[in-house]
Amino acid sequence: MLDGKKTLFSGMQATGNITLGNYMGALKNWITLDEEYQCFYCVVDLHSITVRQDPAELRKRARTLLTLYIAAGLDPVKNCIYYQSHVSGHAELSWILNCFTYMGELNRMTQFKDKSAKHADNINAGLFTYPVLMAADILLFQSDVVPVGVDQKQHLEITRDIAERFNSIYGDVFTIPEPYIGKVGAKIMSLQDPTKKMSKSDENINASIYLMDDPDTIIRKFKRAVTDSDNQILYNDEKPGIKNLIDIYSVSTNKTIDEVVKEFDGVGYGDFKLAVGESVVSVLKPIQDKFAQLTKDKDYIDGIIKDNAEKANYFATKTLRKVQKKVGFPERVR
Ligand code: TYM
Repeated sequence: MLDGKKTLFSGMQATGNITLGNYMGALKNWITLDEEYQCFYCVVDLHSITVRQDPAELRKRARTLLTLYIAAGLDPVKNCIYYQSHVSGHAELSWILNCFTYMGELNRMTQFKDKSAKHADNINAGLFTYPVLMAADILLFQSDVVPVGVDQKQHLEITRDIAERFNSIYGDVFTIPEPYIGKVGAKIMSLQDPTKKMSKSDENINASIYLMDDPDTIIRKFKRAVTDSDNQILYNDEKPGIKNLIDIYSVSTNKTIDEVVKEFDGVGYGDFKLAVGESVVSVLKPIQDKFAQLTKDKDYIDGIIKDNAEKANYFATKTLRKVQKKVGFPERVR
């Protein structure tokens, strides 16, 4: 809770190209929440360097992501959209929380296990303490709610554990955050292997739909999507490819799963895949058009970056000073 309004925080990494999974599992759900909550949406560039990045590329991707937040429908006046690296409180709180997090807890994180297997030549300490920085992001803004996809659930749980541990020592310092996970779309799967989640870092570009893919590419990728051979459009775990496509169509069209299954009763896979592709094009095309328009206005985006970093810093500093006092750091002399 900040200034009498419930607070919401979420973020995305600026690594790789944003996928339809990121959109359907997170970004799409963010759009309508600013009436009810004070919203903070961060481009988490500090997290990105846990994996080696090309500096120029990272900077470019970060700006693209921030612009995409706006293009997807976030009003940058009602929502605080900013870069994590512009608010030093993230790193400062993260250090403090590191001292309240156990190695055993971090060892259990599945994302750490996955990423260290993928980047065996660079298992750095930042990769290990990644969830603590994420906890700092969330707790810095006294967040009540954190809208994320299913894959971030474990990180939300450790955030709650760290906050509860800190509160049990120092009193009610942090709000304990709740995850907000959408009913459909919280785990969009790869189009080439529907048992795996769709991921920015997938080497097979046909496995993911990127937010910037043009209509022809989108349709082509859906046509090639791996399904099964029985040609029946049913929603169950034995048919993960079709289930995923039904989920995607349901999110794109705002229809329920039952409605979608009824709509495609007796329809062949070829026509169904085309319909899913077209529904996704109709969602992404307006975002791409808006993005193209926004990128032309450098001053406008720069203004948002500056104003929102100031706003985020203001709220972050409030929590940080409180925490610093609680743990016993000397007060600042003015
Ligand atoms: P990231 O950048 O991997 O993903 C951003 C958001 O997209 C969701 N997501 C998906 N949802 C559905 N289906 C998929 N295939 C899919 N892939 C990704 C993620 O769940 C996430 O919500 N650690 C975070 C970033 C982060 C953060 C935070 C999030 C840093 N600090 C604080 C919330 C609050 C991450 O790497 O997300």
